[in-house]
Amino acid sequence: METSSCTQINPLPHALNGSIRVPGDKSISHRAVLFSAMAQGTSRISGVLDSDDVRRSITAIQQLGAEVALEKQLDGSLSGGITGWGSDGPVQPADPIDCGNSGTTARLLMGALAPWPIRVTLTGDESLRKRPMRRITAPLMKMGASFDPAGKEHLPITEIGSRELKPLKYDSPMASAQLKTAVLLAGLGAHGTTTINEPAISRNHTELMLPEFGAITTASDRTASVAGPCTLRACEIRVPGDPSSAAFIVCAALMRKGSAVQIENVSLNPARIGFTRTLERMGASVSIKRTGKAGKEPFGIIGACYGGDLVGCEIPPQYIASVIDEIPVLSLVAAHARGVTVFRQTGELRVKETDRLEATVEGLDRLGISSWTHGDDFFVEGDPDFTVPDNVVFDSHNDHRLAMTWALAGLCHDTPVLVNDFDCVTISFPGFLKTMEELAR
Ligand code: S3P
Repeated sequence: METSSCTQINPLPHALNGSIRVPGDKSISHRAVLFSAMAQGTSRISGVLDSDDVRRSITAIQQLGAEVALEKQLDGSLSGGITGWGSDGPVQPADPIDCGNSGTTARLLMGALAPWPIRVTLTGDESLRKRPMRRITAPLMKMGASFDPAGKEHLPITEIGSRELKPLKYDSPMASAQLKTAVLLAGLGAHGTTTINEPAISRNHTELMLPEFGAITTASDRTASVAGPCTLRACEIRVPGDPSSAAFIVCAALMRKGSAVQIENVSLNPARIGFTRTLERMGASVSIKRTGKAGKEPFGIIGACYGGDLVGCEIPPQYIASVIDEIPVLSLVAAHARGVTVFRQTGELRVKETDRLEATVEGLDRLGISSWTHGDDFFVEGDPDFTVPDNVVFDSHNDHRLAMTWALAGLCHDTPVLVNDFDCVTISFPGFLKTMEELAR
């Protein structure tokens, strides 16, 4: 039985100031690990996020026969070689693959395994076993992969791939990069072009990285395709810092008087930095400077300065995917703004590591901030005179992004807070507290 622990988060002694780096991007790290495992030869990857989630992908590819020689670096990242299964395909694993808390591991693996005639059971922790999987298995079944039980919504599910996959033209019901990636990875094993169209733009790391591994892809707004059959070729990938982790530092600086921070070497992929545009529209002082490219991924510096007055704004449906992981922390910033902030059509938040809509409304309520949902629209009524009440206890619901959001309420104001199961921050941002403390020295 899992036991719950409670961590006290104390106010930072000073404003946040200075430059810092954040750990590697989680989405890009998963893809670097998995695509290297699928490739022929030894890929060299660096800057890989060493977190619980990415470790799940690493263990999974080892169970499937990839050779992993990654070493911990001084900055905490993982670097080294991965020798993939290439044209031999993955080996039949002896045991089920436990994807832990990682939806990205489970869903991307389903696509990667679809072209191979082995039986692989995928499972996960309590949270992952509640998350929807039919959105992935449905298109893969259309291509010729089988699932046992067929049509089951939740893990554990056993996948049986096929050497005879058919290419697919798929209109995705939701903007999901995990779904898009699963279909494209399966498409690598089909004879012909597999295309996926999306209702709104989702993150495009897969389309940007697959050509590095020699795949032929085309991508433009809301559509991506891949030509199969194709065996990926080993290559070199450098993973930039995670903008979703940087978002916590940026938001902290906007809530803690006197702060001025810069986050260096962070991904500036437009599909990931919607939070900077949202914050700018709220009147915040946020800057972006591009300094280079890692493969096709732009990276650079994000800066933020405390500026006081913030105003509520509206985030329309087509931009929701670009802020999807940042909505909880953006809602905490919105709690400080004058007026109401509206996030339109945020239904996908209900099926993340926990129901993030319900959990965010619950946390804001503990802070005395009024927020509500109407259908899938999410409203936060800000209060420029916002203060943190005494003795607030937040429930992270074992969700890393909620744990960090509620920790910021304590770190950036004058009153300590308690966060249940805070340790889950290691899913995406190991060293989160240390980073905050370093900036406030
Ligand atoms: C991810 C895609 C998003 C995001 C998740 C990581 C990815 O999920 O919320 O944290 O790496 O592809 P969806 O694909 O479900 O939108």
